[in-house]
Amino acid sequence: MKLIIAIDGTFASGKGTLAKQLAAHYDLPYLDTGKLYRGIGYLVTQAGMDVHNPEHGAAMAEKLTPELLADPILKSGDVAVAASKVAVHPAVRGALRDYQRNFAKNGAVMDGRDIGTVICPDAPAKLYVDAKPEERARRRHAELVGYGEDISYDTVLAQLIERDERDMNRAEAPLKPAEDAHLLDTTNLSIKAAFETAVNIIDAILATK
Ligand code: C5P
Repeated sequence: MKLIIAIDGTFASGKGTLAKQLAAHYDLPYLDTGKLYRGIGYLVTQAGMDVHNPEHGAAMAEKLTPELLADPILKSGDVAVAASKVAVHPAVRGALRDYQRNFAKNGAVMDGRDIGTVICPDAPAKLYVDAKPEERARRRHAELVGYGEDISYDTVLAQLIERDERDMNRAEAPLKPAEDAHLLDTTNLSIKAAFETAVNIIDAILATK
């Protein structure tokens, strides 16, 4: 069996950290699919184009490079907001679909919003990771301050709520748990506890296959 672990969930829920740890634990390649949308959001903004125009976003999908995807500039709050705006367009999502499926085909940990529902609906192991917005904002604020960004907690919380709403209410591939996803609420879990819980869930799934 090709082990595909689909990790979907809200922003700053801890899913990225968890996904990387799971990739190391199960010795699988890891793809942070949010970076693809962030890269497009960044390129559209940099080019002075319109994040609300589907064609502008789709055109930029071809311009993603490994160098850009590794650039810390993509971590900024503004890029994240631009990413969630370009991510509503079916043309943008379509332009990234084959790349993601191809990456996953021999087994992978895929971190995103629509992995379990759209990109890899047959993934044997699906987790939906979430935490209370205030806790997510607290974590994200600390992270941004660590990068040297001058941003208030209230701004982070407001951006996070705005982004959740856009991600959950878009027509194409909205953020929601797949029917067969296991829910993991990390509000009161340490990174270690979240990892151990996830491994228990995945090992139990593997034992039935
Ligand atoms: O995961 P990350 O916060 O980097 O994602 C940035 C934005 O990209 C999300 O808010 C979401 O709008 C979009 N995204 C998406 N589908 C994915 C990954 C990210 O729509 N699989």
